[in-house]
Amino acid sequence: MTEQNDLMEKIVSLCKRRGFVFPGSEIYGGLANSWDYGPVGVELKNNIKKLWWERFVHRRSDIVGIDASLIMNPKVWQASGHVATFNDPMAECKKCHERYRADKMPEKCEQCGGKEFTDAKQFNLMFRTHIGAVESDDNLVYLRPETAQAMFVDFKNVLDTSRKTIPFGIAQIGKAFRNEITPGNFIFRTREFEQMEIEYFIKPPQTDEDWNKVFEDWRKEMLSWITADLDINLKNIHELEVPKEDLAHYSKRTIDFEYRFPFGVDELYGLAYRTDFDLSNHQKASGQKLEYTDPHTNEKYVPHVIEPTWGVDRSVLAVLVESYREEGEGKDKRVYLALPPKLAPYKVAVFPLMANKPQLVEKARSIYQDLQKHFTVAWDERGNVGKRYYSQDEVGTPFCITVDFDSLEDGTVTVRDRDTKEQPRVKVEELENYIRKFLE
Ligand code: GAP
Repeated sequence: MTEQNDLMEKIVSLCKRRGFVFPGSEIYGGLANSWDYGPVGVELKNNIKKLWWERFVHRRSDIVGIDASLIMNPKVWQASGHVATFNDPMAECKKCHERYRADKMPEKCEQCGGKEFTDAKQFNLMFRTHIGAVESDDNLVYLRPETAQAMFVDFKNVLDTSRKTIPFGIAQIGKAFRNEITPGNFIFRTREFEQMEIEYFIKPPQTDEDWNKVFEDWRKEMLSWITADLDINLKNIHELEVPKEDLAHYSKRTIDFEYRFPFGVDELYGLAYRTDFDLSNHQKASGQKLEYTDPHTNEKYVPHVIEPTWGVDRSVLAVLVESYREEGEGKDKRVYLALPPKLAPYKVAVFPLMANKPQLVEKARSIYQDLQKHFTVAWDERGNVGKRYYSQDEVGTPFCITVDFDSLEDGTVTVRDRDTKEQPRVKVEELENYIRKFLE
């Protein structure tokens, strides 16, 4: 476990040192559990979101996307059941008032060592704010605790404009907010995070087998995303069939896809059968028909929903854990991120062998600018080449190109491979294809 704690510390420190993730508001002493993605972190995160959107929206004819408001009419959250039931049980240390989730209590208070706690009471996790100049109950609104509700509320508009037929899905990527009682473990549990969600609408099932079949299709899709897109080894994934008594208020069945994080096996993604819970409740509360009319039979019904959901920040963390490597000892020790090239913040870095030789710099600059038309490219001319490799290894750049004196003679450059450290010479005009091969 110490080794694992150590790994988490190493990842947090690498993230800060190289610009993946910084503590939020740091110059003001930070804000507990808030994190900012830096220059390479935002690239990694965007690559994950882009791959997801390509896979589930662009390459499928049965799923369309939306991008909805974060603040919705508060009636949405009454109808969805979040106002009444989106709670965690909370208990307080009687001595120092530190708060804990009552279902995850330590034996003694982690702050003061006290052993007495108050009885558990329910704490609603939604953040509240007010719209307009006056703060009153009449203009109370919530920051959305899941992106999902917008897909239900916009269901009719999407149906009318996209002309999709059931089964079809609505996808969204966006921020969600939860006033978690015990956030922690870096970007694993925060109060502001991003989700990628799909609400997949199906015909009301006649039998359990009907919805279980779609559920099973999505289970496979999620596993395939984990292995094929994120390159995460299945041995680090555990599927948890969530027990009935722990199901969310809307779910008839949920599987959690758990990942072996350094601090323990914990939830990465979820897959739920939400029945017609949400659409039916919104239909009732809004007075608007949220029915689908079968174009062949004219049969009208409120669709049921299978919901696969992915946390973006947990994806980033799992990818970092999965790709972290150390090799060698002492001054030969090397740390690198074996990121799949499609996820790497920079696909390639370009260096002139020496920064004080104008011909080398000029040639390297022109290669850098050409490659920038196709890939994200880093430029580095500081220090020696060894140091530059070292820093690119830590951000997971798969290739480093060095322009040396031979390059001026024969038009070739060295292309150093992050994982094997091999350095074949490649013709400048072949570089684009050489790199592209690894991205596909
Ligand atoms: N719409 C369903 C829903 O929101 P959830 O299991 O509560 O389900 C979905 O959340 C995913 O969002 C989780 O599997 C996780 O990846 C991510 N997530 C939830 N709470 C989070 C938090 N406090 N910090 C970071 N990610 C979180």
